[in-house]
Amino acid sequence: MVNIEICMGSSCFSRGNNRNLVVIREFLAEHGLDADVQMRGCLCLDACSKGPHITIADTRYDQVDPNSCLDILRKHFAKES
Ligand code: FES
Repeated sequence: MVNIEICMGSSCFSRGNNRNLVVIREFLAEHGLDADVQMRGCLCLDACSKGPHITIADTRYDQVDPNSCLDILRKHFAKES
């Protein structure tokens, strides 16, 4: 089970995680990974200036936009399989 944590604090959410959330959901659905991933939101990590933040399997990514989000997912799940 892979954990994905998305910062839902207002800064990260409004500056990209609102769109990253959609990108992640679509990626997981397209690749049949829904059952292998646990997604959850977290509160502000007190690092808004480096946001939006997404954490995948204990690795925290900073300044994630929808394009880099997709790259991160592809790299991560290519590694997994
Ligand atoms: S809102 Fe994400 S670090 Fe503050």
